Amino acid sequence: MDFKLEIAKLLSGQFTDLSLEEILSMIEIPPNPDMGDYAFPCFRLAKILRKAPAQIAEDAVKNIEKADFIDEIKNVTGYINFYINKSVFAAAVLSELLKAKESYGQSDIGKGKNIVIDYSSPNIAKPFHVGHLRSTVIGGSIYRIFKALGYNTIGINHLGDWGTQFGKLIVAYKKWGSKEAIEKGGIKELMDIYVRFHSEAKEDPSLEDEAREWFAKMEAGDEEALSLWNWFKDISLKEFNRVYKLLDISFDSYAGESFYNDKMDAVIKELEEKNLLKESEGAKIVDLEDANMPPCLITKKDGSSLYATRDITAAIYRKKTYDFEKCIYVTALAQNLHFAQWFEVIKRMGYDWHDKLVHVSFGMVSMETGKLSTRAGNVVLLEDLLNEAISKTLDIINEKNPDLEDKEQVAEKVGIGAVIFNDLINNRIKDVVFSWDKVLNFDGETGPYVQYTHARASSVLRKANVDIDSLDIDYSLLTDDSSIEVIKLIGQFPEKVKDAADKLEPSFIARHIVDLAQAFNKFYHDNPVLVEDEKIRNARLALVYSVKTVIKSGLYLLGIAAPEKM
Ligand code: ARG
Repeated sequence: MDFKLEIAKLLSGQFTDLSLEEILSMIEIPPNPDMGDYAFPCFRLAKILRKAPAQIAEDAVKNIEKADFIDEIKNVTGYINFYINKSVFAAAVLSELLKAKESYGQSDIGKGKNIVIDYSSPNIAKPFHVGHLRSTVIGGSIYRIFKALGYNTIGINHLGDWGTQFGKLIVAYKKWGSKEAIEKGGIKELMDIYVRFHSEAKEDPSLEDEAREWFAKMEAGDEEALSLWNWFKDISLKEFNRVYKLLDISFDSYAGESFYNDKMDAVIKELEEKNLLKESEGAKIVDLEDANMPPCLITKKDGSSLYATRDITAAIYRKKTYDFEKCIYVTALAQNLHFAQWFEVIKRMGYDWHDKLVHVSFGMVSMETGKLSTRAGNVVLLEDLLNEAISKTLDIINEKNPDLEDKEQVAEKVGIGAVIFNDLINNRIKDVVFSWDKVLNFDGETGPYVQYTHARASSVLRKANVDIDSLDIDYSLLTDDSSIEVIKLIGQFPEKVKDAADKLEPSFIARHIVDLAQAFNKFYHDNPVLVEDEKIRNARLALVYSVKTVIKSGLYLLGIAAPEKM
C-alpha cells in the first residue's frame, strides 16, 4: 500500500486546483514523528484560494474523510499532518517485504533501456592506485543500482591504453629495461623505467622526439611497436584483474582508448565537414571560446590524436552500439573541464543526445599518513591497501572471535567491505581521508558495523530456526517506537534506491543502511526477540528477517558482501 499516494488522493478531493502529481510532489515527511508520518503544506495554496494557510488546513481537516489507515489528521500552523495507523503501516511494509524477499527494492522501471557506465578505466603501465578505487567502487555500485531497477547496464573499462606515453615507455624499455625484470616486477618496474625516462629527458630532449616517433609508429601499425605495447598491456591487466577479483568487479567490455584507433579518422573528417575544426599552430582544435572554455584539442601538430579525440569517437560509437539512455563517466573532479569540453563538441556536431552524457565526478582520497603521489614513487597501491585491510581485519577477528569458521574468507569480505563502504558513505563529491582506525571501526558508521548488524540478525534467525513464510504474524505487536522506526526505514528503502539512481549517488544507500542498522540495534536492545510468547516472537522475527534482507540488499548494491557470521 502506497500511503503517500492514498493521502494524495484524499487531498486531491479537497484541492481541485492542483493535479495529483503536484500534490504528490508537495507531500513531505516531517522530520519529527510527533508531527505525523506525512504532512501537506498549505502555503502555496493561500494565493490561489485567497485564504490563510492555517484556515485552509483547518477546513481540509474537517472535510477530509478519514480512511481506515489513518489514525488522525491534524492542522498544525498551515500544515495538514497525517498520522498513519501503526498496525496497518507495519503490516503494509513488512508483508510487502516478506513477499518480495531479496528482490525488495528492485523494480522494472528501466526495462528496455540501456545505461552505459564507463568506470575504473585505469591506465596501462601505471599503478592502480587509491584514486582509481573511487571510480571503481562508485561505478560498480551505480552499475548494480541501475541493474536492480531493471535497466540493461553495460559496464565499460575504458582502459588508458593509447597515447604518447607508450612511445616514451618503448624508448625507456629499449634503453634501460629488461624482459626478466618486467616479467618479475610488473607495473612497478614499468613505472620505474617510465619515471627514469622523464628525468633523463630533462637532460636530453631528443628522447622526447624518439618517443614521438615510436608513438607515430604505433599509430601506423608498426609490428614491433605494437607487440611491445601489447605486452605492457598484458602485464598491467594481470595486476588489474587481481584487484577486480578482490573487489568483485567485472566489466561487459574492455574496449579501451586503443579500440578507437581506426574509428577516429572518420570523426575528424566529420568535424571538418561540420566546420568545427580550426588550425592553431599546426594543431587542430574546436574553438570553445563562446562557451567560456579553452579549445578542445583534436589532433596535435604531428597529426596524433588526443584523449578527447578518443572520447568523442567512443561516445559516437557507444551511441550507435548501445543506443543508451544515459552514458555515465565516473572520474575524478579534476577531469571536469575535459568532459565539459568534449560534451560541448558533441553538441556542436548536432547530436541531440549530448544531454545523455553524464559526468559523475568525485573528490580526492588522501591517506591520513603520507601522501598519494605517483611520481615520487611513494604511491599507495590499491592492491597493497586491500591486502592490508584483509590482514588487519583478520587480526581483529583473531582477537574478538578466534573460533569463527572460515576466518580468512570472512576477513576478506569484511576488510574489502570496510574499504568500499568508507568510500561510499559520503557524498561522492567530498574528499575522502583514509584512516585505518575509522575504516575498520566496528562501532562507527562503517562497513564492519553494518555487516556485523547483518550477522547479528542472521544469528537470531538461525537460533529461531523457523520458516519465515509459515509464520502467522500479528503486526499490531510491532507498534512500539523502536519497531516503528525500523519499519519506516525498511519502507523507505525502495525509494532510496531510486533516488540513488537519479542522483547517481550510492551514498544514499550507504547512509540508509547505517541508519537502519542503528535503528535495528536500538530495537534489539529494547525488544528481546526469542521470547516465550509465540505471537511476540513471530512478529519480532519477521522484523529481524526484514532488516537482514534490506541490509543484505543494500550492501549488495554497494558491492559489499554480507557474511552470515562474523
Ligand atoms: N584513464 C583515465 C584516467 O585514469 C580515465 C578514463 C575515464 N573514461 C573516459 N572515457 N575518459 O584518468
